[in-house]
Amino acid sequence: MEKTFIMIKPDGVERRLMGEVIRRIEKKGFNITRAELVKPSKELVEDHYAEHKEKPFFGELIEYISGKLVMAMEVEGNSAVEVMRLLIGHRDPTVALPGTIRGDFAHNLTENIIHGSDSLESAKRELNLWFK
Ligand code: GTP
Ligand code: MG
Repeated sequence: MEKTFIMIKPDGVERRLMGEVIRRIEKKGFNITRAELVKPSKELVEDHYAEHKEKPFFGELIEYISGKLVMAMEVEGNSAVEVMRLLIGHRDPTVALPGTIRGDFAHNLTENIIHGSDSLESAKRELNLWFK
Protein backbone atom coordinates (compact mmCIF):
# COMPACT_ATOMS: atom_id res chain seq x y z
CA MET A 1 0.00 0.00 0.00
CA GLU A 2 1.27 3.39 -1.02
CA LYS A 3 0.33 6.83 0.28
CA THR A 4 0.08 9.98 -1.80
CA PHE A 5 -0.70 13.62 -1.12
CA ILE A 6 -3.79 15.06 -2.79
CA MET A 7 -5.03 18.63 -2.57
CA ILE A 8 -8.36 19.91 -3.85
CA LYS A 9 -7.33 23.36 -5.01
CA PRO A 10 -9.29 26.59 -4.30
CA ASP A 11 -11.28 26.45 -7.57
CA GLY A 12 -12.31 22.88 -6.76
CA VAL A 13 -13.58 23.95 -3.33
CA GLU A 14 -15.28 27.12 -4.67
CA ARG A 15 -16.99 25.19 -7.47
CA ARG A 16 -18.29 22.67 -4.90
CA LEU A 17 -16.42 19.79 -6.54
CA MET A 18 -15.09 18.33 -3.27
CA GLY A 19 -17.83 15.69 -3.15
CA GLU A 20 -17.29 14.73 -6.80
CA VAL A 21 -13.52 14.39 -6.33
CA ILE A 22 -13.86 12.39 -3.11
CA ARG A 23 -16.45 10.14 -4.78
CA ARG A 24 -14.04 9.36 -7.63
CA ILE A 25 -11.18 8.56 -5.22
CA GLU A 26 -13.40 6.30 -3.14
CA LYS A 27 -15.02 4.58 -6.15
CA LYS A 28 -11.52 3.70 -7.35
CA GLY A 29 -11.15 1.79 -4.10
CA PHE A 30 -8.68 4.09 -2.42
CA ASN A 31 -8.84 5.12 1.23
CA ILE A 32 -8.75 8.73 2.38
CA THR A 33 -6.74 8.31 5.56
CA ARG A 34 -6.34 12.00 6.48
CA ALA A 35 -8.22 15.08 5.37
CA GLU A 36 -8.19 18.67 6.44
CA LEU A 37 -9.70 21.90 5.14
CA VAL A 38 -7.00 24.54 5.48
CA LYS A 39 -5.99 27.98 4.27
CA PRO A 40 -2.27 27.43 3.60
CA SER A 41 0.25 30.21 4.20
CA LYS A 42 2.28 31.64 1.32
CA GLU A 43 5.38 29.98 2.85
CA LEU A 44 3.74 26.54 2.81
CA VAL A 45 2.59 26.89 -0.81
CA GLU A 46 6.03 28.17 -1.91
CA ASP A 47 7.61 25.20 -0.17
CA HIS A 48 5.11 22.80 -1.74
CA TYR A 49 5.84 24.10 -5.28
CA ALA A 50 9.58 24.78 -4.67
CA GLU A 51 10.50 22.83 -7.84
CA HIS A 52 8.77 25.57 -9.91
CA LYS A 53 10.46 28.55 -8.22
CA GLU A 54 12.22 29.71 -11.40
CA LYS A 55 9.20 29.25 -13.71
CA PRO A 56 7.40 32.30 -15.14
CA PHE A 57 4.05 31.12 -13.73
CA PHE A 58 5.35 30.67 -10.15
CA GLY A 59 3.95 33.97 -8.80
CA GLU A 60 0.50 33.35 -10.28
CA LEU A 61 0.50 29.78 -8.94
CA ILE A 62 1.35 30.89 -5.39
CA GLU A 63 -1.26 33.69 -5.44
CA TYR A 64 -3.94 31.29 -6.65
CA ILE A 65 -3.52 28.92 -3.71
CA SER A 66 -2.13 30.91 -0.74
CA GLY A 67 -4.64 31.87 1.93
CA LYS A 68 -7.52 30.17 0.11
CA LEU A 69 -9.51 27.23 1.38
CA VAL A 70 -8.16 23.89 0.08
CA MET A 71 -8.67 20.28 1.12
CA ALA A 72 -5.43 18.48 1.95
CA MET A 73 -5.66 14.69 1.88
CA GLU A 74 -3.60 11.58 2.41
CA VAL A 75 -4.81 8.89 0.00
CA GLU A 76 -3.80 5.26 0.36
CA GLY A 77 -3.96 2.38 -2.10
CA ASN A 78 -2.05 0.16 -4.52
CA SER A 79 0.29 2.32 -6.63
CA ALA A 80 -1.63 5.32 -5.26
CA VAL A 81 0.87 7.90 -6.56
CA GLU A 82 0.72 6.79 -10.20
CA VAL A 83 -2.95 5.83 -10.24
CA MET A 84 -4.06 9.13 -8.69
CA ARG A 85 -2.09 10.98 -11.39
CA LEU A 86 -4.07 8.97 -13.98
CA LEU A 87 -7.39 9.83 -12.32
CA ILE A 88 -6.36 13.51 -12.18
CA GLY A 89 -5.29 13.83 -15.82
CA HIS A 90 -2.86 16.13 -17.61
CA ARG A 91 -2.34 19.73 -16.46
CA ASP A 92 -2.73 21.01 -20.03
CA PRO A 93 -6.50 21.27 -20.75
CA THR A 94 -5.87 20.55 -24.45
CA VAL A 95 -4.31 17.21 -23.49
CA ALA A 96 -6.37 16.12 -20.43
CA LEU A 97 -8.69 13.30 -21.45
CA PRO A 98 -12.41 13.18 -20.71
CA GLY A 99 -12.98 10.78 -17.83
CA THR A 100 -10.17 12.33 -15.83
CA ILE A 101 -10.89 14.96 -13.17
CA ARG A 102 -9.11 17.73 -15.05
CA GLY A 103 -10.42 16.50 -18.41
CA ASP A 104 -13.99 16.68 -17.12
CA PHE A 105 -13.84 19.88 -15.06
CA ALA A 106 -10.86 22.11 -15.92
CA HIS A 107 -10.20 24.35 -18.93
CA ASN A 108 -7.49 26.53 -17.42
CA LEU A 109 -3.77 25.84 -17.06
CA THR A 110 -3.42 27.45 -13.64
CA GLU A 111 -6.80 26.65 -12.07
CA ASN A 112 -7.07 22.90 -12.46
CA ILE A 113 -9.05 21.58 -9.46
CA ILE A 114 -6.60 19.16 -7.93
CA HIS A 115 -2.98 18.36 -7.14
CA GLY A 116 -1.42 14.91 -6.80
CA SER A 117 2.18 14.05 -5.88
CA ASP A 118 4.27 13.09 -8.92
CA SER A 119 6.50 10.44 -7.24
CA LEU A 120 6.80 8.43 -4.04
CA GLU A 121 9.55 10.80 -2.94
CA SER A 122 7.37 13.89 -3.55
CA ALA A 123 4.48 12.20 -1.74
CA LYS A 124 6.59 11.67 1.39
CA ARG A 125 7.91 15.23 1.27
CA GLU A 126 4.47 16.77 0.70
CA LEU A 127 2.69 14.67 3.35
CA ASN A 128 5.32 15.77 5.88
CA LEU A 129 4.86 19.37 4.82
CA TRP A 130 1.04 19.47 5.03
CA PHE A 131 0.45 17.07 7.94
CA LYS A 132 3.04 18.14 10.48
P1 GTP B 1 0.26 19.69 -9.70
O1 GTP B 1 -0.40 18.41 -9.35
O2 GTP B 1 -0.51 20.91 -9.26
O3 GTP B 1 1.71 19.72 -9.24
O4 GTP B 1 0.24 19.75 -11.31
P2 GTP B 1 1.13 18.90 -12.32
O5 GTP B 1 2.08 18.02 -11.57
O6 GTP B 1 0.20 18.26 -13.29
O7 GTP B 1 1.92 20.04 -13.07
P3 GTP B 1 3.25 20.79 -12.63
O8 GTP B 1 3.78 20.26 -11.35
O9 GTP B 1 4.16 20.84 -13.81
O10 GTP B 1 2.72 22.27 -12.40
C1 GTP B 1 2.16 22.67 -11.16
C2 GTP B 1 0.99 23.59 -11.39
O11 GTP B 1 1.50 24.81 -11.95
C3 GTP B 1 -0.01 23.10 -12.42
O12 GTP B 1 -1.00 22.27 -11.86
C4 GTP B 1 -0.61 24.38 -12.90
O13 GTP B 1 -1.55 24.88 -11.94
C5 GTP B 1 0.59 25.32 -12.91
N1 GTP B 1 1.26 25.36 -14.21
C6 GTP B 1 2.10 24.44 -14.73
N2 GTP B 1 2.57 24.79 -15.93
C7 GTP B 1 2.02 26.01 -16.18
C8 GTP B 1 2.14 26.93 -17.27
O14 GTP B 1 2.84 26.70 -18.26
N3 GTP B 1 1.42 28.08 -17.14
C9 GTP B 1 0.65 28.37 -16.07
N4 GTP B 1 -0.03 29.52 -16.03
N5 GTP B 1 0.52 27.52 -15.03
C10 GTP B 1 1.20 26.36 -15.08
MG1 MG C 1 3.35 18.71 -10.04
